[in-house]
Amino acid sequence: MAKFNENFLDLKESYLFSEVAKRVAAFHQKCPDRTVIRLGIGDVTLPLGKTVVEAIHTAADEMGRAESFRGYGPEQGYDFLREAIQAHYSTFGVSLDTDEIFVSDGAKSDTGNITDLFSKENTVMIPDPVYPVYVDTNTMNGRNIVFINGTAENDFLPMPDRSVHADIIYICSPNNPTGACYNRTQLREWVDYALENDAVILFDSAYECFISDSDLPHSIYEIDGAEKCAVEFCSLSKTAGFTGTRCGYTVVPKAIRSVTSDGREMSLNRMWNRRQCTKFNGVPYIVQRAAAAVFSEEGMKEARKMIAHYMENARIIADTMKQTGISFTGGINSPYIWFECPFGMNSWEFFDFMLERAGVVGTPGAGFGENGTHWFRLTAFNSKENTVEAMRRFTELLNTDPS
Ligand code: MLT
Repeated sequence: MAKFNENFLDLKESYLFSEVAKRVAAFHQKCPDRTVIRLGIGDVTLPLGKTVVEAIHTAADEMGRAESFRGYGPEQGYDFLREAIQAHYSTFGVSLDTDEIFVSDGAKSDTGNITDLFSKENTVMIPDPVYPVYVDTNTMNGRNIVFINGTAENDFLPMPDRSVHADIIYICSPNNPTGACYNRTQLREWVDYALENDAVILFDSAYECFISDSDLPHSIYEIDGAEKCAVEFCSLSKTAGFTGTRCGYTVVPKAIRSVTSDGREMSLNRMWNRRQCTKFNGVPYIVQRAAAAVFSEEGMKEARKMIAHYMENARIIADTMKQTGISFTGGINSPYIWFECPFGMNSWEFFDFMLERAGVVGTPGAGFGENGTHWFRLTAFNSKENTVEAMRRFTELLNTDPS
């Protein structure tokens, strides 16, 4: 009989957002007349921008004509998109070669798929709380994980502990779920730590477009030396409403190298290229044209407008937390608001309580790690009207007797 990967037995029974969806579906069945407001999964609600939609139409027409039809594209992405991404990076003062940029179907896949490039023996350092994909994918591979604690005391921005060694370090900034964002000095420390340990940082910058403080870095490559130790993942899902359209990009610098015990040099960039050519046939041409349109002047204007809309919702949620005296982080450089559960409840208790009593869905902090046991995440991705109504219900809920 085929032996299955027993590491799967170490995973939680179901993926966080599937469990949330299951509980919401059960509630719907029980109370079909109740209106539920979803501030749970970070899924966008605004439609694609006009420029993006036009690019999709044009590309679809091209695909329908023999002279402009395209079959398999380059696994790494078309040059027109890699060049647009390169130009986007130059706005942060980061200079990349186009062959360091790999177009993909999103940061979720790539932050998991990158584990193919690393030996099972590596120790992986993962913040707690954090986006569950990092833990789940490394658990599937049976790697040793050390957690670093994000707590209210360190503003959910854990810093390196020199007494602990790691080979691979995941950092998500602006952070999902806490919304906390590392500044330059803090990222400098992480890059120094990685260089001292010959480690690789896997930097998830999926929310970089939500950064509003002008002195915060958008890319880890704004820190000198990061090009020797950091891979960066980004996505258009939240930037331009691509959660259903699927397009992201990963930067694998050519300067990240390692030498085997018998003296053979290895390049992470070449390995990722090799991996992608074997396992991935690239993002559809139509989607890549849509993505390139995001980086046009008009496309970026539309994206900024969407982000401003969501950040207004974030402000409404953050104001409610302030008015009700609840401790929270996020909501300024991030579409997530992370707050301490009221009534001393744990996060799944509060999830059920808020769903049953107020018809509002959020995401329990426990799904992002142990340190989230008593914390909860709300997203700013719904409409303004629904966000205002959700906060009205939330405030009312806090004034009820929980028993
Ligand atoms: C989230 O809600 O954390 C995100 O939507 C998950 C994702 O981007 O995959």
